[in-house]
Amino acid sequence: MLKKIMLVIGAVVILGLVVESLTAQPEPRGGDFGGRRGGGRGFSASPQQNPPTAVNEEEKKILSVLDEMDRNQRGGNMNVPMEDGRILRLLTEAIGAKHVVEIGTSNGYSGIWFCLALRATGGKLTTHDIDEGRAAMARENFKRAGVDNIITLVMGDAHETVKNIKEPIDVLFIDADKPGYIDYLQKLLPLVRPGGLILGHNVNMGSQMQDYIKAITTDANLETVFQGQGQDLSVTLKKRLSK
Ligand SMILES: C[S@@+](CC[C@H](N)C(=O)[O-])C[C@H]1O[C@@H](n2cnc3c(N)ncnc32)[C@H](O)[C@@H]1O
Repeated sequence: MLKKIMLVIGAVVILGLVVESLTAQPEPRGGDFGGRRGGGRGFSASPQQNPPTAVNEEEKKILSVLDEMDRNQRGGNMNVPMEDGRILRLLTEAIGAKHVVEIGTSNGYSGIWFCLALRATGGKLTTHDIDEGRAAMARENFKRAGVDNIITLVMGDAHETVKNIKEPIDVLFIDADKPGYIDYLQKLLPLVRPGGLILGHNVNMGSQMQDYIKAITTDANLETVFQGQGQDLSVTLKKRLSK
């Protein structure tokens, strides 16, 4: 009798596990909130997760391109999570940036977030990549979003191509080869205007980031905090000279 009861209990537990696995919802992909975090689906778990709202038709078009990229182009393109894209846009617009320099264009996802801000500030984006395949996607995405007129895409090894930048930089965004962050910082920090920002993505990637982290957290001329979905977006202010 006891054996029969144990068998029945076992069967019920197994059935429960099978039903749970069949009805479970998949986790959101790769750290992105992917528009599914309230992304235009008419549902969000909390007000903090509501998606950005468009102020006009142009913004609506840009946001719809970002949402489409979020859903269909993430694979292999290593894009920032949507939440981090929103931070990039907000910081850029808040400081009234006129010139954003991005290292690591990929398919243009983060670049388009910058452009949401740059349309409002009357600014422009100079973005760098070495991979022609991703750059071709970026060109197409910039065009679809209607922001190609404020973007210059520079092809080649950015450790070399950034040497051609002569204009002041309001926001420098580094999101490329991780051991290279320190080199990009050293080459471009002199061009960042006082009051400008240096943003680094994925800076929690272990030993290869230590020299960069040290540089942005120990220089008295810089003030750094860590933000973003994974707290791995470094936000560094180049301090204004006190009078
Ligand atoms: C993480 S992805 C950039 C993602 C992009 N910022 C976004 O969020 O949409 C890194 C990009 O850096 C580029 N990259 C890597 N090393 C580079 C180098 N030395 N010069 C220029 N681009 C480089 C890669 O080709 C890749 O497209």
